[in-house]
Amino acid sequence: MLNDKIAWVTGASRGIGAGIAFMLAAEGAEVIGTATTADGAEQITRILSTAHHPGQGRVLDISNPATVEQFVKSLAEKMPDILVNNAGITRDNLTMRMKDSDWQIVLDTNLGGIFHLTRLCLRHMLKARWGRIVNIGSVVAAMGNPGQVNYCAAKAGLEGFSRALAREVAARGITVNTVAPGFIETDMTRDLPAAQREALASRIPAARLGKPEDVAAAVAYLASDAAAYVTGQTLHVNGGLYSAS
Ligand SMILES: NC(=O)c1ccc[n+]([C@@H]2O[C@H](COP(=O)([O-])OP(=O)(O)OC[C@H]3O[C@@H](n4cnc5c(N)ncnc54)[C@H](OP(=O)(O)O)[C@@H]3O)[C@@H](O)[C@H]2O)c1
Repeated sequence: MLNDKIAWVTGASRGIGAGIAFMLAAEGAEVIGTATTADGAEQITRILSTAHHPGQGRVLDISNPATVEQFVKSLAEKMPDILVNNAGITRDNLTMRMKDSDWQIVLDTNLGGIFHLTRLCLRHMLKARWGRIVNIGSVVAAMGNPGQVNYCAAKAGLEGFSRALAREVAARGITVNTVAPGFIETDMTRDLPAAQREALASRIPAARLGKPEDVAAAVAYLASDAAAYVTGQTLHVNGGLYSAS
């Protein structure tokens, strides 16, 4: 159980982040979830109010270092024991056609944001000599995916970030791991044409896309006391689509 723990989950307004926020709250954590808009933040507060241990929604744009700093300052009394870096975006295109702005915003959101937010949370965890950092990667970091050089580069970078930080802080009771989802039913995959979704599902041994709860269960394990000796790892949650070993 995660009683007495504060958990921050970025991108908790929908999809995987909402699933993670709800599951950590049900495990007893006080959850602070973020969205990019005030409406999204209110929605998070509403979702969490039905969980065992209510939390709150807050507004955060992770791609902007200044807003990340303001966000952390505003929550100085509620610093996280558990940080789940989940917020992420796609801006897909073939490399030859990809705009600089689409490269940059994906790197700033999916990788830069994690660095800026995590750096500001470390002091609290180091002092507490306990912490759990879970970064949400993607199966495509390992597999590659055409049309996603920006996204795959950011997600592969996130895994390297996690492994290096894990070594920096392991002796202080802090673990840092990556959960790498396969294809999960969320807004991110709902936009795919039906034919592409069917082709995708046919390649998955489990014969279905994943659910946000499938990913949330992996995060809840890595956030628990039981996972104290697991660090610097990537846990793939993909229905057998890809095996790292
Ligand atoms: N779905 C999949 O198949 C899949 C597979 C592998 C990995 N992932 C990863 O899992 C994570 C969640 O994906 P998802 O499918 O649940 O995505 P989603 O349904 O598109 O939700 C994205 C979340 O990120 C937030 N967000 C977007 N831009 C942000 C920014 N600049 N600052 C802070 N928050 C921001 C969104 O907030 P708003 O609601 O305010 O826009 C939303 O809460 C992402 O890191 C994604 O790369 C997803």
